[in-house]
Amino acid sequence: METLKPEKIPACDIEKPIETALPKNGAPLNEKEKIDNHDDSEGSDEETKAPDASKPGEEAKPKKKKKKKKKAKPVIEAGAEETKEAVPSKLPTPTLQNPYIEMIKKEFDNVLINERAQDNASTFRILRDWKAGEYHQTMPPTVQVDKQFPKKDFPIGEIQQYKDGAKRITNAEKKEKDLLMEDQIIALRKAAECHRQVRKFAQKIIRPGKRLIDICDRIEEMNRHLVAENGLKAGIAFPTGCSLNHVAAHYTPNTGDTTTIEYNDVCKIDFGTHVDGHIIDCAFTVAFNPIYDNLLKAAQEATETGIREAGIDARMSEIGAAIQETMESYEVEIKGEVYKVKSIRNLNGHSIAPYKIHAGKTVPIVKNASTQKMEEGEQYAIETFASTGKGWIQEEGECSHYMKDFDAHPVPLRHPKAKGLLNHINQTYSTLAFCRKWLDRSGETGHLMGLKALCDAGIINPCPPLVDIRGSYVAQFEHTFLLRPTCKEVLSRGDDY
Ligand code: CO
Ligand code: CO
Repeated sequence: METLKPEKIPACDIEKPIETALPKNGAPLNEKEKIDNHDDSEGSDEETKAPDASKPGEEAKPKKKKKKKKKAKPVIEAGAEETKEAVPSKLPTPTLQNPYIEMIKKEFDNVLINERAQDNASTFRILRDWKAGEYHQTMPPTVQVDKQFPKKDFPIGEIQQYKDGAKRITNAEKKEKDLLMEDQIIALRKAAECHRQVRKFAQKIIRPGKRLIDICDRIEEMNRHLVAENGLKAGIAFPTGCSLNHVAAHYTPNTGDTTTIEYNDVCKIDFGTHVDGHIIDCAFTVAFNPIYDNLLKAAQEATETGIREAGIDARMSEIGAAIQETMESYEVEIKGEVYKVKSIRNLNGHSIAPYKIHAGKTVPIVKNASTQKMEEGEQYAIETFASTGKGWIQEEGECSHYMKDFDAHPVPLRHPKAKGLLNHINQTYSTLAFCRKWLDRSGETGHLMGLKALCDAGIINPCPPLVDIRGSYVAQFEHTFLLRPTCKEVLSRGDDY
């Protein structure tokens, strides 16, 4: 059974790291391109005439020249194996003025399809397939979410009624309160739709043998593109977690890390998208080998339990107890050894506020003595961690994730590099989490001592990898939801989980 080979699934061919194929150390889009991407809401003239190479306005982008030749219309071929279904004749207009997306497109041999359905089940354990349906997007994705939904009618999340809540849905006062949250809800739905499309893409490229850094780069570039990254107004909410096996959270490769994902690994993909600081924090576990099925199911079901138990006035202690009960009803047999699945008792879900991923309240995943309750209008991420180890994590290993302290006070900085680095962090990330790889790419190479000085001064908090015991395996599932006055909206829900 354990010799079951990974199925040969056609996927894109990641040949080289994104940064080596691009100028300027693969720095993020320059300002002009960012603005182009974001603001040309009616700038479709260029896009609709994609094959016309001799356009003015491209003179400032020399690297585009190389791509001219290839910049033909999307090749619509049913040849690719994943397009067993007929390829619809009309593809959405790509918003392809982004060199990274051009590169990703080439890795798919320039074959763009716009089939919403996607087979996950024959590659990944537990993750469900994406269903067929109307879809104005290509694969690989090229169309920004704003352009798919110009009327801002982004898909609504899964609506769950509160346990006592039949009346809330129709209550006039609650409906009015709902309206007051409209801007936040729309921003969150947009971020959630972006998250779904990015993770669907991620599920297309994550395969045994691939380097995690290449996978993370592509997830991040796709995230930036689809959400139309624009300074602190829209973008990535935190580094792409891809913690392996006994590492539960907060691992992403630093520059030079060549770790690959393999058939026997258990990998937690945890990434975030934000619009105006409204964050979607949502994670799934990748496993190819069926021996981990019960471990993954335990985390998935426990997260569902937590979401179901959540509500206005719900007690944290009761939610934690329910999560633990679901989680610990599972056993998993790995290489002849049977493990009772444990909920990691020092990890938890959390409330979310604008630009603040951990807004102060925690949702335990074991029973505890908390007297806290959830309240109307709050936003939460429920995440649960299933472990075959101790069920207790510690900080260990090289740090990649950092985040400015939300309440940091200005202090004099002695280290010569610290001040400049702090300016960069303030402008680029503010209080959103970031990773060392991103600093390197925006030209802040040799940042280590400056970063250390900022940590020592208490301005930046390091978030090192969180690990259970060596040899153990940890699975995680996470969703973001909003306790609307009328109902609970599970914003990040998708067909996959
Ligand atoms: Co979270
Ligand atoms: Co997360």
